[in-house]
Amino acid sequence: MTEIIDGKAVAKKVNAVTAKAVDELKQRGVQPGIAVVIVGADPASQIYVRNKNRKAQALGMYSVVRELPASTTQAELLAVIAEYNADDRIHGILVQSPLPAQINEPLITMAIDPHKDVDGFHPTNVGKLLTNFPGNYPVANTPRGIMTMLAEYGVDPAGKTAVVIGRSTIVGKPMAALLTNANATVTIAHSRTQNLKALAKTADILVVATGIAHLITGADIKPGATVIDVGMDRDENGKLTGDVDFESARQVAGLITPVPGGVGPMTIATLMQTTVELAKWSDA
Ligand code: GUN
Repeated sequence: MTEIIDGKAVAKKVNAVTAKAVDELKQRGVQPGIAVVIVGADPASQIYVRNKNRKAQALGMYSVVRELPASTTQAELLAVIAEYNADDRIHGILVQSPLPAQINEPLITMAIDPHKDVDGFHPTNVGKLLTNFPGNYPVANTPRGIMTMLAEYGVDPAGKTAVVIGRSTIVGKPMAALLTNANATVTIAHSRTQNLKALAKTADILVVATGIAHLITGADIKPGATVIDVGMDRDENGKLTGDVDFESARQVAGLITPVPGGVGPMTIATLMQTTVELAKWSDA
């Protein structure tokens, strides 16, 4: 029997813990704060940013959204980051991706104080993840949220074969590192991978993060596998759908995330969790 992973329910649990942590910090005189910077008017990004802002405020955090025009220069964006790096009310800084072509995104990521790097994209924090460094540091929220869901559903990656399709800084690479640190045997696949579907079918844990609607179908899934769909795609009718063809996949998988209601709510909940942790660590 296939079980559908309820990302909304797990997110609700995470948010309840976060709300409590916010209250405890406030009693110590610290209100966790997040700054989200958006450059240009990409409609999908605007929806994400609005949702993040709403959730942060609902959890009792200080939240600011800085909307900059699409014509913003590298120097102007660096100045905004410097401002938030120096602002004691802000514990987490998130610069929404994608950025316009005139912006050098890696240099923007590098300019964020690693202690305020709520995305976990700064090379210092990525390096800590790769070295499984002891101590506290932020880790990319989408893959971290996926690890939380796996734990919640009793999936221990140790000794399992994991295939991650997608090699982005936001999802694929940190996902592979987290699964490796959790003792899975991990392969990263991508658009140039040969025999991609045959490889997918070897996975006990399959994470799909390609942005290609319904790339993976039931025929590409090992019976009983855990399938995590990171896609946020649009079908031919403009409806939100995933990288996995849910209807055929659910016939084969043991556990599967839906879109919507799987990874999406977990990403925002984990972002809030990370913001509170950054506030806590800065206060320690
Ligand atoms: N764009 C899509 N996902 C993300 C994310 O997790 N962080 C940032 N900064 N931008 C994104």
